[in-house]
Amino acid sequence: MAISSRLDTARVLATVLLPTLAKGVIVRRPGVMALAGKLQSDGTAIDTMRHLRDRYGPEPVRLRITGRSVAVLVDPADVGRLLRESPEPFALATKEKKAALKHFQPHGVLISEGADRERRREQNERALRPENLTVEPIVRDEADLLLRHVMSTGELTWDAFTRAWWRIARRIVLGDSARDDEQLTDDLLALRQNANWAFLHPQQRGLRERFQRRLNEYNPALPDQVPHWLFAFDAAGIVTMRALAIGGRGAHGILESARLWPTTPVILRESTKPTRWHGTWLPTGTEFVVFTPFFHRDADRLPFADRYAPEYWDGPRDPAIVPFSAGPGECPGRDLVLASAGCMLDALSEHLSFPVLSEPLPKTLNHFGLRLQATPTSTRVS
Ligand code: HEM
Repeated sequence: MAISSRLDTARVLATVLLPTLAKGVIVRRPGVMALAGKLQSDGTAIDTMRHLRDRYGPEPVRLRITGRSVAVLVDPADVGRLLRESPEPFALATKEKKAALKHFQPHGVLISEGADRERRREQNERALRPENLTVEPIVRDEADLLLRHVMSTGELTWDAFTRAWWRIARRIVLGDSARDDEQLTDDLLALRQNANWAFLHPQQRGLRERFQRRLNEYNPALPDQVPHWLFAFDAAGIVTMRALAIGGRGAHGILESARLWPTTPVILRESTKPTRWHGTWLPTGTEFVVFTPFFHRDADRLPFADRYAPEYWDGPRDPAIVPFSAGPGECPGRDLVLASAGCMLDALSEHLSFPVLSEPLPKTLNHFGLRLQATPTSTRVS
């Protein structure tokens, strides 16, 4: 059985799990992201994971943590199995996720179980189909405004991009009347900052109620999944801005950006019964950890690990390249993200060109610090 030494457990905690927590699981912290970019902390984390696989692998590596069974996956086929066999016996609703998400999303599908989960999952899938929503006209409209701004300043900054992106998110999720309601998404940001602290932060009931009241003003019949939908647009904006920095186009550019710099770097599952892995039984309640940057950038397996490779998405899929997860817990917003973010990418790249990062691409990319010099490729903005 692969049980990591105390030293290796400490190394996984120090270089893989703590930096992920420090960057902010629910909302990224700009200061820590800047430091992580300087230190290229994902490179160090990936080295640790490679060391685990070389020393113990391919079976799941159990960490020596008192009171909790934690297993880190190092084999791509095991990742495939874990995601395929969710939510039973590998539940998405782990203790850690429940603690974090109850701050702003107590009824979210991600932390629901049993029949509640099934119902909410179905509701998400239906509501988030891009064809059931207005996407392209909204994105094109806001992209136009952003284009004018960028043409006048000569650069695209994260701040300008994110303001435009949140207007898009509010319009798609809540309708045009929510376009300028920055207070709403600022309140959500504050709730998400608390959620970063999971167990440690008290819940701010007043703030949550104010947020909920504001949502109800737009539409009292809004489903209780809306906070997650709004919050998840943040990741889509980050992925889009990074895609611009690698010259990405359309849906494949978005997928590649999310492969290179996954916005859900740790996928967690908790087993609901004993499960057998490579001949070893792991107990009920084992927390399984998939650190996606390791699998997505595994130069031993992937010849394209550190370059922009949109062609990958046309071929057979690797079971451990899972920026949107996979199986029954796959992101139900995936197609909406590809439609909205892909459209934003194209709308901007049709009129502007940006310098492209050189390859091999960095393992950590601090999106807050991106400042892209923009050159007009055509003068006319429709
Ligand atoms: C680049 C953008 C996004 C990425 C990379 C992403 C990725 C993911 C991943 C990896 C998961 C699975 C988490 C897990 O297995 O524990 C997930 C779940 C989920 N995502 Fe996304 N997501 C994105 C944007 C969105 C958007 C915009 C929405 C909604 C509007 C959304 C809605 C959801 C929901 C509801 C779940 C929970 C699914 C469940 O529990 O079955 N996501 N997402």
